[in-house]
Amino acid sequence: MCCIIVAANVTSQPQTAYTPFIMFVLTQQPSIANHFLAELRDANVQQDRMRFRRNLERIGELLAYEISKSLPYRHAEVTTPLGKAATRLLRQPPVLATILRASLPFHQGFLHFFDQADNAFIGAYRGHHIGEDEFEVEMDYITAPDLQDRTLILMDPMLATGRSIEKVYHALLRFGIPAQTHIAAVIASPEGVAYLQNRMSECRLWVGAVDEKLDSHYYIVPGLGDAGDLSFGPK
Ligand code: URA
Repeated sequence: MCCIIVAANVTSQPQTAYTPFIMFVLTQQPSIANHFLAELRDANVQQDRMRFRRNLERIGELLAYEISKSLPYRHAEVTTPLGKAATRLLRQPPVLATILRASLPFHQGFLHFFDQADNAFIGAYRGHHIGEDEFEVEMDYITAPDLQDRTLILMDPMLATGRSIEKVYHALLRFGIPAQTHIAAVIASPEGVAYLQNRMSECRLWVGAVDEKLDSHYYIVPGLGDAGDLSFGPK
């Protein structure tokens, strides 16, 4: 017996800001995404940097697809060699914002699906400690298009404390107020999720998985290690 699955679930209605914070977890359902994430975490497979970057891209592709289901579409018609086909097209490509450098392969995965996206890049890193369990997030570079009324997808593969994402988001708001903001991560910590939920409740969070905890160096446990180093080598 075969069955036909119709990929409906698209809407032509413009979306409004999401309140409250909603979270989607890609690996909650059994799917091939679990294989990609398992390879990303596996210390033996991690030796192959190209495979590591490709798996980050693949999680980016799958999250891009999931996010695409919640974007606004318009009805359209295309002409085939045999006739006319009714279809739906994205009303406007999103803006993809990436925190350098670990997010670059993840960003590339999103670009494979949102190939007409506009792009923002932000250099942000953990600076000096400002308390026993706090550090300053330093930003040294930011470039972004006009964000007014756009769909913004802000991505960072490892959502650890949530402080970088919060700081970058507020810096991006200087370029305009997005109609909707999606935050995408490959692995999140429960602490990071709670932090963003309290401070960025207007956004929607999409993650590959939520892990156990943060360690004393703010690394996600069990996590996968340092995503930037594993993609591009040690600094
Ligand atoms: N950044 C990483 O690359 N890994 C973590 O676990 C946390 C932040």
